[in-house]
Amino acid sequence: MRTTFQRPAMVGHPSKSGGLLILLTVLASPAAQAQDAEGERLFRQRCATCHSIEDGGRGSGPSLAGVFGREAGSLDGARYSPAMQAAGLVWDEETLDAFLQNPRDTVPGTTMAVRISDPAQRAAIISFLQNAGGGG
Ligand code: HEC
Repeated sequence: MRTTFQRPAMVGHPSKSGGLLILLTVLASPAAQAQDAEGERLFRQRCATCHSIEDGGRGSGPSLAGVFGREAGSLDGARYSPAMQAAGLVWDEETLDAFLQNPRDTVPGTTMAVRISDPAQRAAIISFLQNAGGGG
């Protein structure tokens, strides 16, 4: 079990090698590129009002840069509900798919209420988030 901790005042991380990863992924696969474009479009439409995809970006929701493989509710400096901090999830295809389909079923008590009911749209958004990897 994790104990709830107070967020340190310090924010931001040194940037990781995410940019290179995106480039390699995009160059490697035209199909992935097409799905990514769709994912990016959906992200801008459905998520970007609250979430940034850049490190340290500010919105009402936490930055989703490098969200893949991150523990739920663990980004320094972000505002989370106690429910999210105690969720004990790691974000991957499966947990993101469940969360986006029904946030309140997956993390009861979360303050995020946005649902994406179309599985293909969820897959495109998740792929976009995965390839957007480590952020800026
Ligand atoms: C109306 C604002 C809003 C929109 C739109 C929104 N979210 Fe969120 N999101 C939030 C808030 C607020 C939280 C923090 C929830 C909590 O702490 O319970 C959150 C949390 C998350 C988390 C957990 C992040 C972490 O660090 O643990 C993920 C993943 C996520 N959102 C993905 C998305 C995706 C993908 C979309 C678009 C399909 C989206 N959100 C749309 C407000 C929003």
